[in-house]
Amino acid sequence: MYDFRPAPGTPKATLYADMLSAADALTRDESDAVANMANVAALLWEFLAEVNWTGFYRVSDNEPEELVLGPFMGRPACIRIPFAQGVCGAAAKTGKTQLVADVHAFPGHIACDGDTQSELVVPVIRDGRVIAVIDLDSPSKARFDEEDAAGIEALAAMLAGRI
Ligand code: SME
Repeated sequence: MYDFRPAPGTPKATLYADMLSAADALTRDESDAVANMANVAALLWEFLAEVNWTGFYRVSDNEPEELVLGPFMGRPACIRIPFAQGVCGAAAKTGKTQLVADVHAFPGHIACDGDTQSELVVPVIRDGRVIAVIDLDSPSKARFDEEDAAGIEALAAMLAGRI
């Protein structure tokens, strides 16, 4: 029913503008957070080349300094991540985007999938508080750059009231 796959070679600016409008169309009339995260995880999987995991970790309801696995595409992953651990934990703890060119050089990186070489993790912030992170993993080193970070930050801002 939906085919959002971009043409190969689409410039990143176009790709992220198209991805954002597709994510908007998929989530704007739906109030269920899980449905919205599931569709956005699948959308990222379709839009982005060279990724082996796209998805969400949410801040746990009952443990404020812990992330819990949310909807994703890719291999089964670690379920709970303390804020003190890994790239996702760093994004949640600091509220800042983590662009990691080589995960093996990142202290405390959690290897859920041994194929992962680089990561981009962007916090989703609502009312000044981190509520979730968007995690993108790649089997290529330095897969993500500032343009990817800006594109996913725009997505996180749009989703803040919808997940
Ligand atoms: N790599 C993450 C853990 C989550 S998995 O990659 C899906 C990290 O170090 O935070």
